Amino acid sequence: MSKFHFECRVCGHKIDNFKDWFSSNQKCPKCGESKIYTKYSADKEKIKTLIGKDQTPESLWHYFDFLPLNNKENIVTDGEGVAPIERWDFLEDYAKRKYNLNLEIFINRNDKSFATGTFKDKGGSLAASVLKEEGITEYVVASTGNTATAFAHYMAKAGVSCSIFVPEDSLPDSEAHIGAYGQKLFRVKGDYAHAKKVAADYAKKYGLLMTGGNLDPLRLEAKKTQVFEMLRVMGKIPDVYIQALSGGTGPFAVEKAFIDFEETGLLGKLPRFLLSQGDRCAPQAHAWDKATKNNFPEGYEKDFPTYENPVTLIPTIATGHPGMYPLMAPLVKRSGGQIFEINEELAVDISRLVAYERVIKIGPASAAGLAGLFESLKRGYINDGEVIFVNIGESAGRALDFMKEVSYTSEIISSVDDCERFDRTKYKEMVWAPFENY
Ligand SMILES: Cc1ncc(COP(=O)(O)O)c(C=O)c1O
Ligand SMILES: [Zn+2]
Repeated sequence: MSKFHFECRVCGHKIDNFKDWFSSNQKCPKCGESKIYTKYSADKEKIKTLIGKDQTPESLWHYFDFLPLNNKENIVTDGEGVAPIERWDFLEDYAKRKYNLNLEIFINRNDKSFATGTFKDKGGSLAASVLKEEGITEYVVASTGNTATAFAHYMAKAGVSCSIFVPEDSLPDSEAHIGAYGQKLFRVKGDYAHAKKVAADYAKKYGLLMTGGNLDPLRLEAKKTQVFEMLRVMGKIPDVYIQALSGGTGPFAVEKAFIDFEETGLLGKLPRFLLSQGDRCAPQAHAWDKATKNNFPEGYEKDFPTYENPVTLIPTIATGHPGMYPLMAPLVKRSGGQIFEINEELAVDISRLVAYERVIKIGPASAAGLAGLFESLKRGYINDGEVIFVNIGESAGRALDFMKEVSYTSEIISSVDDCERFDRTKYKEMVWAPFENY
């Protein structure tokens, strides 16, 4: 029996392996849809051992039995996927102080991931491993920045030539990373939707394989492992899952873990998805808002706006054409969750607060995820006694301009006479002010 196969979500057609999936252009040969599920033949009960407290995983490959790769020899890894999940008590104290809520708040940091410091490293590792196994040596990626960088990294390790297409406004520091690895970066004049189109044209022109959509098993299956890590580290599934929403791979991946292990009864209820979008490009939040006001009429999930060339402060999460909304909205609804906007200008304040309280540097897309927590508290989306999980996603390693804004203490001086004696604690009130008044 093969280790895994795919099944079309639309018509149920079975696809045996990646060779067939790739040769049919990552579309179901029967119905033409690109929505497939990966199914595994491993005994599902095995997951109970893998998530045991005594386990010490070195990477997401700890969960090899539930990842779509046949041979361990093909693994391309840099220790991704075992990011620390930490309880951040300064946020718990805040929820108590300001809203009188007793919460357990867990943060999935990801910034410690060695390769590129983002949660996209998981997908990069799986994709590079599968390409190696399939003997594929060229790949095309369209991304707003983080996937681009992660894939550039892992593909270089696997000896794969990776052609990467990013929108014009993607952060310049990603470019340095990609270029330094000798992977090709095409900065496309236009927005992410246009970058995707040019990438697809390029892939077609040269007959190359390209990243699939947000349900691409190479990304979905890798990100699914965060649910195993929740169980291993926290010992439970949270009541609420918070993340910045761009295309939606993260939430879909959480759902996939629940689908895979439904019959084991291990996971229980889906967490409520509370998904934040930057207010300068928030088509899914706008569609959701409209649906909510109209009481979710028939076909509500097909009614969403698209925004051309959005001008945003956080380009990494700006998807103006939310093609996955028809699947995302019903998922969020079923979970009892919400999709909403956050103020992008708050990203600097959030990163400053986290740097002060936890002494770690998080990037703007991570801050957008955390802004989702502040906004959810304010909107009353979180109840007393709940367990909250925030997937924050990226370090500030490739957001140097952003970090310059976050930094606030420098002074130019000529002599010691200009230097007041320094006391770090005097900044505490300042970094908290935007949230005390939020
Ligand atoms: C740090 C971070 N958070 C959130 C997202 C949104 O991811 P998705 O909506 O695909 O789950 C991204 C995507 O680039 C990201 O890099
Ligand atoms: Zn089909």
